[in-house]
Amino acid sequence: MQQALRIGIAGLGTVGAAVLTLLERRAEALAARCGRKLAPVAVAAKTRKPRRIDVSRLAWFDDPAKLAASPEIDVFVELIGGADGPALRCVETALSSGKSVVTANKALLAKHGMRLAELAEKNGVALGFEASVAGGIPVVKCLRESLPGNTVTRVCGILNGTCNYILSRMEIEHLPVAECLADAQRLGYAEADPAFDIGGEDTAHKLAILTALAFGTRIDPDCIAIEGIKDLSLADIEAASELGYRIKLLGVAERTAAGIEQRVHPTMVPRSSAIAQVMGVANAVTINADAVHELTLIGPGAGGMPTASAVVADIADIARGLRAPPFGLPVAALASLPRAPIQMHEGGYYIRLSVYDRPGAAAAIAARMAERAISLESIVQRRRPGERGKPAAVPVVLITHATYEKLIREALAAVVGDGFIAEPPQVIRIERE
Ligand code: HSE
Repeated sequence: MQQALRIGIAGLGTVGAAVLTLLERRAEALAARCGRKLAPVAVAAKTRKPRRIDVSRLAWFDDPAKLAASPEIDVFVELIGGADGPALRCVETALSSGKSVVTANKALLAKHGMRLAELAEKNGVALGFEASVAGGIPVVKCLRESLPGNTVTRVCGILNGTCNYILSRMEIEHLPVAECLADAQRLGYAEADPAFDIGGEDTAHKLAILTALAFGTRIDPDCIAIEGIKDLSLADIEAASELGYRIKLLGVAERTAAGIEQRVHPTMVPRSSAIAQVMGVANAVTINADAVHELTLIGPGAGGMPTASAVVADIADIARGLRAPPFGLPVAALASLPRAPIQMHEGGYYIRLSVYDRPGAAAAIAARMAERAISLESIVQRRRPGERGKPAAVPVVLITHATYEKLIREALAAVVGDGFIAEPPQVIRIERE
C-alpha cells in the first residue's frame, strides 16, 4: 500500500469535527477504496476548549498558517471560513508550498477562486471545493466530471439550507423569521454571520461557483443580482399558497440572448413542481443541458455530516491521485462571457400592493401596467383591514404574464407616483418551469 495521505485540518467547528469523525469511522473502507490510508495528523483551531472529538493524538497548531506551511502534511483542509483574512492566507500558503487544499469556503472561492485555481495549477496540486456548494450534494463533481459532453443552458437551485428551513417553517408553522433563524443557528446550518444566509449572499457565492463550472466562465460575483428573504412576510407566503405557489430562495444562472443572467431572489414556484417539494434544510439543483435535458439533485444542503461527506470525497480524490482543473478548464481557458443585467430578465411577477381603497385606484394600477404592455394574469383585492382612524389600505395582489423586469420597475414607479399606495410594493419573480 502507498504511504498514508497526511491531512491537516484548520477549523474544528461543526464541519471540522464531523470530518474527523468520518475519517475515523470510515478509515478501513477509505483505505481500501483509495489504496492508502487517509490519516489526519494535525489540527489548528482558535481555542483548546474541550470538544466532543478526541484530538489528543493529533499535532496541535494555534496558528493555521503554520499548519498550512508544515512539511508534515500533504493536504490542508480549510474549514475556517471568511472570504479573506486567515482562510485566504492559509490556502495561499498551502498551495504555494505544494500542498493540495480542500475547502468548504464558498465566500473565499467566489472572491478569490480564479487566483487560487491558478495557484493550484502552477504548483501542480489539487483545489477541492465540493463542500462549498449545496452541502452533501455532489454538484461540483456532477458539473465538472459528469457533464463535459453537454452544453449547459441553465443551473437553478435552492442553495441555502438555512433559508429553505426558515421558509418551510414560516409556511407550515406560521413562525416569524427570527425564531426560525435561531433554530437554524442552533442546528449548525447558519453561517457564522447569518446575515449572509438571509441576505442571499451565501446563495450568490455558491451560484458564482456553479456558473463558472456550468458555463466554463470566469467567476464574477459582482454580476449577480441579489435579494434575500429578509423582506418576505407571512402575508406573501400565505398569498403564494392561496395562488398555488410556494416561495423558495433560488439561485439561477442561465444563458439568454443578452448573455449569462445570474440572480438570487425569493421566487414563486408552482406548488406542484419538484422544487416546491424540497423542504427544510434540503437543497436542490436542477441542471438543464442539451444531452441530458434535465437533471435534478436533491439532498441535505447544510450541517456537519453532509458537508463532511463532501470534504471527505475531495480528500479521497486526492489520495487516489485524481485531479481535474478546479473549474473544469485551465483558468486561462475560462471565458468572460457577457452578463445579462437583471433589467433584461423576462418572466412573470407577483406584486403585492397596499392600496388606499378609493375609487379609481385599481383602474390606475391596471392602466400603468397596460401602458407598458404588461398583461395581467390576475388581480385580487384581498380584504379590508378595518383599522380605525387610518386611511383604509387593502392588499392587492397582481400576477403578471411574462414581461421584462425593466417594464415592471417603471410601471411600479409610476404607481407609487400616483399616490394610491401606502407602502413600497412587494415584488417576487415567478419561475413557472
Ligand atoms: N449556511 C449555509 C446554508 C451552510 O445554510 O446553506 C452550507 O453552505
